[in-house]
Amino acid sequence: MLDFADLIAPMTVVEFEEKHRGKAFAVFPRTEARTELFDNIIDWQQFSSYINNDRATAGMQAITLDGRKLCMEQGNLERESRPNWSRKDYYEKKYLHDLWTQGGSLILTKASLLTPRISMIAGAIERYYMGAADAHFYCSGVSNASTFSAHIDYDDNFLVHAQGDVSWEVHNSFENDDGDSTSLDLTVGDLLYIPKGIKHRAIPKTKRISISVPVAERRPNEGSLKTQDREYYDFT
Ligand SMILES: [Fe+2]
Repeated sequence: MLDFADLIAPMTVVEFEEKHRGKAFAVFPRTEARTELFDNIIDWQQFSSYINNDRATAGMQAITLDGRKLCMEQGNLERESRPNWSRKDYYEKKYLHDLWTQGGSLILTKASLLTPRISMIAGAIERYYMGAADAHFYCSGVSNASTFSAHIDYDDNFLVHAQGDVSWEVHNSFENDDGDSTSLDLTVGDLLYIPKGIKHRAIPKTKRISISVPVAERRPNEGSLKTQDREYYDFT
């Protein structure tokens, strides 16, 4: 089992809590162990197969070339009329492929159980936070693909670099003043922590898969924690 301490090593949990948690962003630079872990989360063939099996996709979003967000659940990932047998959440594969080849980005949401390793990572984070974690796979096929402009999220976020290179602009304080940010160039094996409330922006530098793991903390009155079943059952 992967613990949060293993995930962020060699930084210690004590150091993370004193200097970063809810206070400031942190970079956990790649180590041999983290690179091995992140590099084996997903390969491009698995990614491609997941999208093609649209009947089983949990969540899908896309960012168009002009920066608009399209979303399976909102019914705008399609250009043509749907077949009458389609399920409620539907996307048109050819439309996604056109967006992909033109330089749009795809986001696989509700994906923390997509592969054993991303489930291990999300599980380590949610046990440490005593909260619930999700995973959003941000995927781009070309350098400088479209992505979200600078924004603020309302959950703490761990950014797992699984394929390719991404540059980041992360603000240094909760004032989020223009000009008061840090530029980071991250690649496979690097982990970035951004506390809720800190403005940030990602710029894909190559074909990439970077995974955002947002985690919602359990509030004191919420009772016992009920998370995803992350046990891996062997059906072979
Ligand atoms: Fe974000």
